[in-house]
Amino acid sequence: MGRGLQILSIALAMFVGSECQSITVSPPYDILYVIAPSAFNLSCNHITESNSGSDIEWKKDGAKITEETKHSTISGDKKKTVLNIVKSSSSAADAGTYDCVESPSGTKFSITVVVAKVNSNDVEFKRSMGSVKLECETEGTSFPTNYTVTWEREHQPITTLEDYEEKYTVNNTMPYHILEIKNAERADAGAYQCVFDFSSHANGSKVSQKVSVTANLFASPLIRRFEKSKNLIQRDRLELKCGVYGHPLGNITWSKDGVVLAANGRIEFKPGSGLDNGILEIEHVEFEDKGTYMCLASSMRYNTTANSTILVRVKDKLAALWPFLGIVAEVVILCIIIFIYEKKRSKEDPADNDETDVKSGSANANEANEVRQRNVRA
Ligand SMILES: *[C@@H]1O[C@H](CO)[C@@H](O)[C@H](O)[C@H]1NC(C)=O
Ligand SMILES: *[C@@H]1O[C@H](CO)[C@@H](O)[C@H](O)[C@H]1NC(C)=O
Ligand SMILES: *[C@@H]1O[C@H](CO)[C@@H](O)[C@H](O)[C@H]1NC(C)=O
Ligand SMILES: *[C@@H]1O[C@H](CO)[C@@H](O)[C@H](O)[C@H]1NC(C)=O
Ligand SMILES: *[C@@H]1O[C@H](CO)[C@@H](O)[C@H](O)[C@H]1NC(C)=O
Ligand SMILES: *[C@@H]1O[C@H](CO)[C@@H](O)[C@H](O)[C@H]1NC(C)=O
Ligand SMILES: *[C@@H]1O[C@H](CO)[C@@H](O)[C@H](O)[C@H]1NC(C)=O
Repeated sequence: MGRGLQILSIALAMFVGSECQSITVSPPYDILYVIAPSAFNLSCNHITESNSGSDIEWKKDGAKITEETKHSTISGDKKKTVLNIVKSSSSAADAGTYDCVESPSGTKFSITVVVAKVNSNDVEFKRSMGSVKLECETEGTSFPTNYTVTWEREHQPITTLEDYEEKYTVNNTMPYHILEIKNAERADAGAYQCVFDFSSHANGSKVSQKVSVTANLFASPLIRRFEKSKNLIQRDRLELKCGVYGHPLGNITWSKDGVVLAANGRIEFKPGSGLDNGILEIEHVEFEDKGTYMCLASSMRYNTTANSTILVRVKDKLAALWPFLGIVAEVVILCIIIFIYEKKRSKEDPADNDETDVKSGSANANEANEVRQRNVRA
């Protein structure tokens, strides 16, 4: 039965029984593409007069389905029913035509579920391994042929990545979809997705339908070395970024002098390097913050850890000022001494003068002696 007829029958029912009812099915596709074993849901929404006695049910290829969940709510004179088929995983057996049938009218909405199969590979990173090929291969003769494939890294299209041109080559030769990562490094490790686009153009409007499959480049964790040490002045901001590579990234913990750090008012952890706590930040450092900080990454997959440490020194805010203050103090003391001396001297002026005379007299006498001696030698 066509959609036009369904709408007509509903309109007729509304006209004849003056009943206001509607059925909608989501997702709103004629064909739903599922790549096993991913999950899928079908939902049928039915609104009717609360006393109409009409109901809905799901049928697959004409047979009643038992694995559905039903929620009905009544508000005013309207009854709303939601009938869901929830599949947490899918297999070829789930393929078929699903109808949401209203009783007693027999009105139905159909959706065809196509379950496709894609095989992807995972690759283990090794040092100097050269190029890596990640592959998504469609399986079976029933796989739809009118689709396109694009690649993403951590759900970001690779064409938008900065190093797209040098780093990647894509080869789409059905049934193989290959992403080549040239000169693979540990920093390239991650989850890559081949995205199958089954979007169709129905009645001029685009119905978007994309399904992604993951292929992994696995690598054990590694942390970029910190600079050896960091010198800060009291009240400065401390920011340490843990540069972790690897896939899966695993967990990181921060410690200081061997004691694991937890966030408190002063110590904060912020997202960085793809982790919730990749950055350690202290807005205003104090003396007690000095020490050796460590970022430790642990990976369950590899049963291994990686770490990097940095020595943080915190100096007094006045530290740079001390030598200067010392000089100032010295000058001040010197001035005071000179001032006091000068004052004392001006009070004892007369006596002072006599003393000078005596001294200069004796000096003159010595000079005279010397002159005499020189004359004698001559
Ligand atoms: C299916 O429905 C369940 C429950 O309503 C929901 O938690 C889940 O996210 C849905 N999954 C998909 C693929 O729509
Ligand atoms: C693309 O992949 C196919 C299948 O592996 C291969 O036969 C073909 O030579 C590749 N093309 C290029 C340009 O590498
Ligand atoms: C793919 O083919 C099916 C069946 O022939 C058709 O219903 C669907 O609209 C097509 N999709 C695209 C994207 O052309
Ligand atoms: C497509 O358009 C035709 C004519 O405009 C209409 O009768 C039909 O119901 C439409 N189909 C869908 C799926 O919207
Ligand atoms: C990270 O830690 C959590 C809880 O401590 C643990 O469940 C999870 O498996 C860890 N992940 C990895 C990759 O080690
Ligand atoms: C992980 O490594 C430790 C020591 O290296 C070992 O004792 C333990 O059995 C390992 N665990 C697993 C699950 O391999
Ligand atoms: C940190 O790494 C060094 C060298 O890689 C290692 O000797 C040390 O045991 C590690 N420390 C921790 C706490 O894992």
